[in-house]
Amino acid sequence: DFTVAVVLPAGGSGERTGLSTPKQFCTFLNRPLISYTIQAFERIAWIENIVVVIAKDSIDLMVNIIQQFGHKKVKVVLGGSTRHRSIFNGLQAFGESEEESALKKPKVVIIHDAVRPFVEEDFLLKIAIAAKQQGASGAIRPLVSTVIATTSEGYLDHSLERAKYRASEMPQGFLYDVIHQAYVQCSETDFEFGTECLHLVLQYCGTNARLIEGPHTLWKVTYKKDLLAAESIIKETLA
Ligand code: C5P
Repeated sequence: DFTVAVVLPAGGSGERTGLSTPKQFCTFLNRPLISYTIQAFERIAWIENIVVVIAKDSIDLMVNIIQQFGHKKVKVVLGGSTRHRSIFNGLQAFGESEEESALKKPKVVIIHDAVRPFVEEDFLLKIAIAAKQQGASGAIRPLVSTVIATTSEGYLDHSLERAKYRASEMPQGFLYDVIHQAYVQCSETDFEFGTECLHLVLQYCGTNARLIEGPHTLWKVTYKKDLLAAESIIKETLA
C-alpha cells in the first residue's frame, strides 16, 4: 500500500505581507497563489486527495476558486486557531470507511504550505518514499542568515554556528498513523506554541524524520517582496 494524500494548511490570516487579502489568495495572471499550489499536486497521478484547510472567512472564496479553476481532487476543511490545529483538522478529514463523508485514509500524508507553489514531483516522491520507510521526512535548506539569541535588554546573548544548522522547510511527509497519533497525544501547549511537526512525531511516537535537502524554490511566500518574486517565477515557468 503506497497511497499518498496531501494536507495544505491555508488557514492563516497572512498578517506579515501587510496586505488585506491573505497571501494564499493573492492573484497572479488571473489565478490565486493557492490554485497554483493545488495544481502542482493535482497534476501528479499518484496523489489521491488534497485536503485544503481554510479559515472560516475564506471558505466561500476557496469554494469559488475550486469551481473556477476546475480542481478535482480537493476537499475543503475548516481551519483552527493555530497552524497545528489546522493541520490536525485536515488529518481528521480521512477516516475508516464507515463514515461516508470521510476520505480514504492514506498510507502516507504529505503536509505542504499553500504558500509554496513551486514544489515539484521528483522532490515530492523523495519525501513520500522516505516517509514510508522512516515514518517521517522533511525538506531542509542551508541557513541564509546566522541565528542569534538576544538578551531581554536587546544585547547579544549567544550565536549559533551557521554551518551546523538547517532551516526546516516544506514539504514534510509522514505515515498517516504516525502524524495522527502525534496530534492525538500532544498537549494544548504543543497546539498553541509548537512549530515543528517533525518534533511532535519524535516526541510522541519516537519517529525520527529523514531530512532531505530541497531546492531553493521551496521558499515560503511571506512578505510583499515574495509576492513579487513569486509572480515573476510564475510568469516564467507555470503560466
Ligand atoms: O504563518 P505561517 O507562514 O507559518 O503559516 C504557514 C502556513 O500555515 C500558511 O499556509 C498558513 O495559511 C497556515 N496556517 C493555518 N492555520 C493557522 C495559521 C497558519 O493553516 N491558524
